[in-house]
Amino acid sequence: MSHAISIGCQRPYVIHLQADFSIPYATTPKVLISDRHVGPLYKEQVLSVLDDCYYIEIPAGESFKTREMKQKIEDELLLNHFGRDVHIYALGGGVILDLVGFLASTYCRGVKLTYLPTTLLAMVDVIVGGKTGVNTPQGKNMIGSFYTPSAVYANLNTLQSLSMKEYTAGIQEMIKHALLFDDSLLCYLNKHTKELLAKDISFLEHVIQKSILMKARVIEDDEFESGKRALLNFGHTVGHAIEKVSFYQVLHGHAIGIGMLIEAYMASGESALTKTILDFLKAYECPIDFALFNRTDDILDAMHWDKKNCDNSIQMVYLKNINAYQCHENQYTFPITKEQVLHAFTWVKDYLQC
Ligand code: GLY
Repeated sequence: MSHAISIGCQRPYVIHLQADFSIPYATTPKVLISDRHVGPLYKEQVLSVLDDCYYIEIPAGESFKTREMKQKIEDELLLNHFGRDVHIYALGGGVILDLVGFLASTYCRGVKLTYLPTTLLAMVDVIVGGKTGVNTPQGKNMIGSFYTPSAVYANLNTLQSLSMKEYTAGIQEMIKHALLFDDSLLCYLNKHTKELLAKDISFLEHVIQKSILMKARVIEDDEFESGKRALLNFGHTVGHAIEKVSFYQVLHGHAIGIGMLIEAYMASGESALTKTILDFLKAYECPIDFALFNRTDDILDAMHWDKKNCDNSIQMVYLKNINAYQCHENQYTFPITKEQVLHAFTWVKDYLQC
């Protein structure tokens, strides 16, 4: 298995979908950064390919995706005299890629970066389009940059070692892409639930490729989110707030799954779209923590920090039906009210619990 997908953006790059860690040899100083979950599994394989590469391992988890952790790594790089010619490799899931991508964008004003994603969420979302960032106490990804890597090497075999929890979180981002743009992908995800839950590699290869291509098309039109890219935030206004309120115990993909359901209800009521999302959440085993449904005040409070907010209003993507989003003169997000949010949470809670 080997596919190369070109991403057309200001600094174009290629995503390689492959079955191992083959990476071209680089003569410049190299640093590999990973976390305590992924590092022990794959660092030896990667280091043997990269040869003479400095290694940094940080604690795993969203709560370490902070300015403080970025500074700690920067200090280690500076103390070891890495300069502008360093090539940084990020090995892991969304947390590592977001943090290390941000670091690479500012270290010596920007150094070479290669992503080695190991989670489904990173493969279908994070590696496309160059968003990087860290969390702050106010919210998710509040500080960051747009910075694309020079290349991505995704070893699909790493998905076999993912926990089902991490794996099903990634599936939610693919469902999001399909709901927004591709009915045929949605049908495929619906038809092949069994194979995909079993991590059958040929089915996975197909949906990962489709999902990347779909996001790539959006990025090619609007890399810096001045218009259409905002659609990719479907489910994120509510989802990011859920993540924050749960202290990141709810994984990003699962929070987006629940966020899509709540936002779809706000945009379309008890519709075919809402029912479709409910069916997908169930089919792909998205865990739902009902305790969070009693914390709508905290969730609303967290939504006040959303990056899309403008004119003092909370904004969200209005998906009205499958592949039918609201848009008006290059505007893709629209205001919502507190009452809409509360009503949607009450409906979803009652529906799921009865
Ligand atoms: N995950 C949303 C985006 O990349 O724009």
